[in-house]
Amino acid sequence: MKSGSFPSTLGAAIRHEWLLDPSKLTVNHGAYGATAKVVLTAQDEWRRRMEAQPSLFMRQTLPPALRAAADGLARFVGAEGRDLVFVDNATTGCNAVLRSLDFAPGDEILILSHAYGAVRNTVRYLADRHRLRIVEAKVAFPQPAADQIVAAVASALTGRTRIAVLDHITSSSAIVMPIARLVALCREAGVPVLVDGAHGPAHVDLDLTALDADWYVGNCHKWLMAPKGCAFLWSRRDRQTEIHPLTISHGFGRGYIEEFDWTGTRDPSAFLAVEAALAFHEALGGAALRERNRKLAERGATILASTLGTELGAGTELSGAMRLVRLPITGPASPDRALAARHQLEIRGCDAPVSALNGGLWLRLSAQAYNQEADYEQLALLLKAICHEELR
Ligand SMILES: Cc1ncc(COP(=O)(O)O)c(C=O)c1O
Repeated sequence: MKSGSFPSTLGAAIRHEWLLDPSKLTVNHGAYGATAKVVLTAQDEWRRRMEAQPSLFMRQTLPPALRAAADGLARFVGAEGRDLVFVDNATTGCNAVLRSLDFAPGDEILILSHAYGAVRNTVRYLADRHRLRIVEAKVAFPQPAADQIVAAVASALTGRTRIAVLDHITSSSAIVMPIARLVALCREAGVPVLVDGAHGPAHVDLDLTALDADWYVGNCHKWLMAPKGCAFLWSRRDRQTEIHPLTISHGFGRGYIEEFDWTGTRDPSAFLAVEAALAFHEALGGAALRERNRKLAERGATILASTLGTELGAGTELSGAMRLVRLPITGPASPDRALAARHQLEIRGCDAPVSALNGGLWLRLSAQAYNQEADYEQLALLLKAICHEELR
């Protein structure tokens, strides 16, 4: 192994632990995650138990099993199980919070200019319905600085700000926000904060108690590699009574936990398999894996930028296991050209998001346990060919 490269016990050596197609180059973990076989087996086992005695399972086995899973997940994110409920995905969790709140006409909702599109749509829906104003804090790009981001959010706060919705790690630009500073700033201003942490769990270290936001929504199906449809909503204790699930069911009026734990009949196996996902993450190194992924993404992005002669989207301080690298195109960047670049990658056996941001085309790469340096060398060559042949 070359000096400075990563241990061979991860990367291609363990790729067989997933169902990933060996003929494809997989560098887009951030999109939908990838669930290891051992976790899918645990999920199957829960399904078998459920289907052996469906009625008994739902009435007797599920309630304590769900709470045990919540306790385990809560420990991992620095919280207590009684403050954490499962939801299907981050979009649902953000909707549950935003659509539970009371608004008065003229109230403002603060979002980041890099807010995730689906959550931005929830905010637009509320703004239309309640005659609210959406105020965007502008995130500088490329190479944002933490102080700049804090200043942008500070200047977007007003006496009418009803809530701030802050992405922990942005999707389109892969920036790890200085979230502790932003939450502290909003709390000082008396503005409640919903953190959209879709990419947070098992990507960066989390201590939700210390963060002390009002609400934090996290996906487990991305970086924790739980089965799809496993996410959570954490609510600070004084913020729980005003929040309800999108589906009101038998638990209504019985408190936060009961309302969210039963929202009608559904398959809870993805939630219950979170314990297997936590064990798998720990077996791969836990905090050491997160740090390894961060470094690998940095190395991968550096390989791309030097092969293509371009630049990275953000510096080390505001980056995790996803990085943006600019593509060397001539002429203006547009969403159509971004789609064309993605399509060209796809027909060469690689799926990775490309977006038009601030006048440039940017590719987002991810690094997870099954990736290794050679993946980014291969990606760099593909991109070089595409930019040379197709995007000139
Ligand atoms: C910042 C952010 N919020 C929300 C979501 C939505 O996640 P989900 O599709 O699991 O609801 C994503 C997905 O990538 C995201 O990046």
